[in-house]
Amino acid sequence: MTNPQPRPNGDELERSIREIGADLASAFPSSARHPLRSLDARAMDFASADQELKAALFRFVDVTPACRSLDDLARHLREFLREVPEAPPPLAAAMRMADVKAARPAIGAAAAAGVRHMAHRFIIGETPASALAVLRDLWQHGVASSVDLLGEATMTQPEADRYAARCDEALRELAAAEASWPSRDVLERDSIGPIRRTNVSVKISALTPLLRPDAPERGRRDAAERLRPLLHQADALGAHIHIDMESLDSREAVFDLVLDVLSEEEFARGPSAGMVLQAYLRDSPEQLERILAWAAQTGRSPPLTVRLVKGAYWDHELVQATQHGWPAPVFEVKAECDRNFEALTRRLLDARPRVRVAVASHNLRSVAHAIAYNRMIGGEDRDLELQVLRGLGDQLQDSLASRGLRVRTYCPVGDLVAGMAYLVRRLLENTSNESFLHEQARGTSLDVLLAAP
Ligand code: 2OP
Repeated sequence: MTNPQPRPNGDELERSIREIGADLASAFPSSARHPLRSLDARAMDFASADQELKAALFRFVDVTPACRSLDDLARHLREFLREVPEAPPPLAAAMRMADVKAARPAIGAAAAAGVRHMAHRFIIGETPASALAVLRDLWQHGVASSVDLLGEATMTQPEADRYAARCDEALRELAAAEASWPSRDVLERDSIGPIRRTNVSVKISALTPLLRPDAPERGRRDAAERLRPLLHQADALGAHIHIDMESLDSREAVFDLVLDVLSEEEFARGPSAGMVLQAYLRDSPEQLERILAWAAQTGRSPPLTVRLVKGAYWDHELVQATQHGWPAPVFEVKAECDRNFEALTRRLLDARPRVRVAVASHNLRSVAHAIAYNRMIGGEDRDLELQVLRGLGDQLQDSLASRGLRVRTYCPVGDLVAGMAYLVRRLLENTSNESFLHEQARGTSLDVLLAAP
């Protein structure tokens, strides 16, 4: 890594991507069903890709955390869907019923039932303690995890305190349980040093009610006060904290906050920490340069882990931009986004050991590209982490683990209401016509799936 190899030639890289991709695909279970086929039909209708419906869904999701009961949930659902001129039939029926006060709990329950099947696929438990069996099973199958505590859009200080307390509790419970797990060399060490078993993903918007784009400083200070104790706790427990990125309106605040806090003297030697880079943002290459410059300047150790993702708020960003008359901050053409993802992958892999690299994608081509490029520049497999989302990347996860690669699965924990926003993101992202998983399910040939974007 310190003596960079000559740049691999493009044809060779493409050949290697095809080989690796074909090998990974051959390890998919032949009986594997497409993840979306097993989703409840009502949930599929819910996301039938209608623009107004999507916009209504976002407004619905915004208030979901404030809903105290199923009755509340039903009433809000009804109000939001009223704005959709032509709701799909099951929703139209639900809306008519929601007019009757007495029927509302039933509608709320039906809406919940519509996503319950899906929820169980994506959410591994209501509490960290109830998630431990799944986490342990993953570990035994050679898969690491990162736990994400659902519950976003914190609106009050007590809510922010509660989220911080839940994170602290999760760190302690997971670290205590995970200490007795058998050792797994692939998951626990790279050429820089130890990799932590306990890994918790944290959302800054849940750590403060004050995160506003027009007054970022207050939100930053408030969130930093809750983040520091979590970093200390993670350090004491030998755990890793990963800061998620959310929508663009909080991006700058989160970015500045994370880099500032991790620059503080008390965190110069730990804990292991990371942040997220969203490749769907047009300005992500500049963001990455900022991260790399920061890493070079602080020389923090262990180095920051950068999780490269495509980004989960694509629909939200487009709705926002349209409403405000702003230019789209995200790539609107999938191939452009995929090309950017690959360019960022290469830049990140070239930048090691200044940063640790985690490539998070369900796109077989993007994953094979990362593995191929890493090998071609002389990198070791253990210096590249692959990440997938629970419920969407299960086949890819098993295939990567079977090939001795380090894979980490992002595992949300929480209840259905808290998970609503998360579930809607998964649904929208994966019912989109351009989704890789959709293509795969339609039986698109491997050659096409693995072709350069
Ligand atoms: C999300 O919450 C995975 O952070 C991503 O959608």
